[in-house]
Amino acid sequence: MIARTLWPGCLPAGRCFWDFADLLPVANHRVSLGEGGTPLLKLRRLFPDDAVYAKAEWTNATGSFKDRGSAVAVSAALSLGAEGVICASTGNNAASVSAFAARAGLPCIVALPKGTPANKITQAKAHGAIVLEVPGDFSDAYREAARIQGAVAGWANLTSTYLNPYMTAAHATIFYELHAELGEVGTVIVPIGAGPMLDGIMQGARTLHEQGYLKRLPLPIGVQGVGCAPIADAFARGEDVVTAWPAPVQGMAGSINDPLRGYPDDGTRTLRILRSANGRAVAVSDSQIRRAMRDLGRHEGIAAEPAAATPLAAWRDLAAADLPRPIVLVISGHALKDPTAQPTAAAQSLDIDAGATPAAVVAAAMRQFALKS
Ligand SMILES: Cc1ncc(COP(=O)(O)O)c(C=O)c1O
Repeated sequence: MIARTLWPGCLPAGRCFWDFADLLPVANHRVSLGEGGTPLLKLRRLFPDDAVYAKAEWTNATGSFKDRGSAVAVSAALSLGAEGVICASTGNNAASVSAFAARAGLPCIVALPKGTPANKITQAKAHGAIVLEVPGDFSDAYREAARIQGAVAGWANLTSTYLNPYMTAAHATIFYELHAELGEVGTVIVPIGAGPMLDGIMQGARTLHEQGYLKRLPLPIGVQGVGCAPIADAFARGEDVVTAWPAPVQGMAGSINDPLRGYPDDGTRTLRILRSANGRAVAVSDSQIRRAMRDLGRHEGIAAEPAAATPLAAWRDLAAADLPRPIVLVISGHALKDPTAQPTAAAQSLDIDAGATPAAVVAAAMRQFALKS
C-alpha cells in the first residue's frame, strides 16, 4: 500500500515533488536535491497549432528523471536502516543514485555496462561511488549488482527496473505534475527500457482517476530503439508475453537498451500496462533519433540525449493526428549526458574563423539559422 492519506477534495496547489509526499512511500527521511517540479514546455515552433508539450525531465539535478526515483528510494533506504546502496544502470540511474547516496551519507556502488558514456561515469565518481564497469550489456550489470547485494547484509538495491518498488512509485509524480498544469492529459509518450517510468506515470493517472480528479486515463505510448526493443517487438507481434532480446544490443539510445535477460517478466508487466490502456509500444531507428535530437535542439532549445529524444522520433510513425490531445513527450535526460551522440548541429555547422569581419560572421549565422534540420 503506497498512499497514506489522499487529498481531501482538492489537489495540492503546488507543483513541487514533495507536495505529493502524502502519495509517496516515504516515512522518516526526506533526501532531496530539488527533484521534480520540472517545466512543461509547449513545443510552439515544432507544433505551432497543436497541443504538444515536452516534460522537461532533463532539468532534474543530475540531468534525468531518475532523481525522482532516487529521492524516494534513498529516503526509504535511510528509513529502513540500509548500510549502503547499490544499483545497476545504463548510466543515468548511477549518476542519480550516487548523488542522493552522497547527500544521505551512504556508501554507493554502481554497476554499468562497459562503454557507458564517460560523462555518466564521471557523475557517479564525482559523488564518490565505486563504479564497476561490467563487460556486456545492462542485463550483465543487473546480474552483477544483484550478486553483490545478495552477498552482503543491509545494502539496498536501487536498480530502477521493477526491482525497487519505491522508484516506480516515485514516477507517479510526473503525472501529478502534468495534471496540475494540464488537467486532462490525452497522450503521454515515454522512452522505455523495462518500463517503470511509464508504469509509475500510469499509476499516478489511475490514482487520480480513482479519486475522481481525472475523467479519463491518458493513452500511453512506450518507445524503444530498434537495436534493443523487446517490448515493442512483442507488441508488434501481438504477443502477450515479452521475451528477452535475443540479439546483441545495438543503437544510440543506450539509456533504454535493456535486453531484459533474466527478468523478461518486467517487459511483460509493461506490455500489459500498455495494452490495458489501449496504448502502444513502438521502436525507432538511430536516424529517427538523430533527427529528433536535431529538431529539439535547433527549434525548441531542448538538448536531449538520444533515449530522451525517442518520443519525438516516434512522431511520424505514430500517425499522431489521431492521438488524443494534449500530447506530452517525456524528455527524460540531457544531451550532455552523452555528448558524442549529439548529431549534426555540429556537422551542419558553418565554420567561420574568429577574427572574420562582423558582416561575414552575421552572414554565416543567418545561413546556419536558415538550414533545415
Ligand atoms: C534517459 C532515460 N530515459 C528513459 C529511461 C527508461 O526508463 P525505464 O527504465 O523506467 O523504462 C531511462 C532508463 O535508464 C533513461 O535513462
